[in-house]
Amino acid sequence: MTPTRRTLLAAPLALAACDRFASAEPTPPNVPPLKPISPAPFGTAIKALQIDDPDWVALARANVSQLTPEWEMKMEYILANGLDRPNFDRSDRIAAFAQAEGMALHGHTLIWYSQGKEAFASLSGAAFDRAFDGYIATVAGRYRGKVRSWDVVNEPILDDGSGMRDCHWSARYGHDGYILRAFEQARAADPEAVLFLNEYNQESVPAKGAQFLKLVERLLKVGCPLQGLGLQSHLWIDIQPGVIAAFMREAAQFGLPIHVSELDCTLRTEDRLDFRSQAERLTAQSARVAELARAFAALPRAQQFAFTVWGLRDTDSWYRQGDKDDGKDEPLPFDSFGRPNPMAAALAAGFGGQ
Ligand code: G3I
Repeated sequence: MTPTRRTLLAAPLALAACDRFASAEPTPPNVPPLKPISPAPFGTAIKALQIDDPDWVALARANVSQLTPEWEMKMEYILANGLDRPNFDRSDRIAAFAQAEGMALHGHTLIWYSQGKEAFASLSGAAFDRAFDGYIATVAGRYRGKVRSWDVVNEPILDDGSGMRDCHWSARYGHDGYILRAFEQARAADPEAVLFLNEYNQESVPAKGAQFLKLVERLLKVGCPLQGLGLQSHLWIDIQPGVIAAFMREAAQFGLPIHVSELDCTLRTEDRLDFRSQAERLTAQSARVAELARAFAALPRAQQFAFTVWGLRDTDSWYRQGDKDDGKDEPLPFDSFGRPNPMAAALAAGFGGQ
């Protein structure tokens, strides 16, 4: 059909209208891939099922050089059928994927207060010791030569920073004792892996940050083979400007490698009324993420271990799973289509020192 004069006139108007609606969507920032601009290996959390998602694989190949199993290398998955029937199918698959892709693997996590209680419930005394030591020897031994590093112990400190968490591990070995034992067992199982203590909210809850630094000092004093500090960095948009960078500098005083290990930054402000627009929240998020990236980039090279986001696309985030999902949160660097979010631009700016 040959277009008439009216059709020809109408076409540009229609296109303009489409363009107007299209421009209602914020234009994703034009951001280069993150891996080459990060001062250290840039990583992401991974779930085994994402290996079967070609869009996720393409985004990961372009942006990351390190992987952290989000949940399938933890006791909750490995010991789901009990201590005598460990599941390694998915952690093995993730390790094989990392190897095939030439990506480093960060093991997460061997000993965590929140997991393992059921599997160890029937044990006491020497049997408990054999199971504790045996679990670390088996898991860390299995991935020896495959992992670059381990979160040997995860989240040992109370949320309010008033002290150490009580748990089934501390009940047997004491608050520092279980951590020391875990690190010693991990060192024996994998002499090459870099061994980390991993925690969250050290920057945003000053008492927790202080407790973390005191714990690190105590562990180093007794010769614990602690070799790296994990700052999970599950940020939120109302953290006071400057405290993120201040804690990074404090943590760096031990001279150990620092891993920003689980960065995400929710736009939610929990149950407080918050009338800010999405754009205002994103601006606040960008400021905090840029501050973190700048602080990490300012570390001495030898202390820049890796910078890991806790997922790539918003819909990959634990914030967007199940009934917690408000459908609006943008906690990660890419949107659900894999397009850069303002967070990606903030990371690029921060890595560049802006
Ligand atoms: O995929 C299964 C699904 O098939 C099943 O129907 C469902 C119900 O059982 O479980 C689903 O697996 C869940 C998995 O996340 C994947 O979504 C597990 O139950 C659930 O326990 C697991 O939660 C993980 C959580 O750690 C506990 O391991 C989150 O993904 C993960 O983001 C979160 O990560 C933690 C870090 O390890 C430590 N720092 C805090 C961080 C956030 O909580």
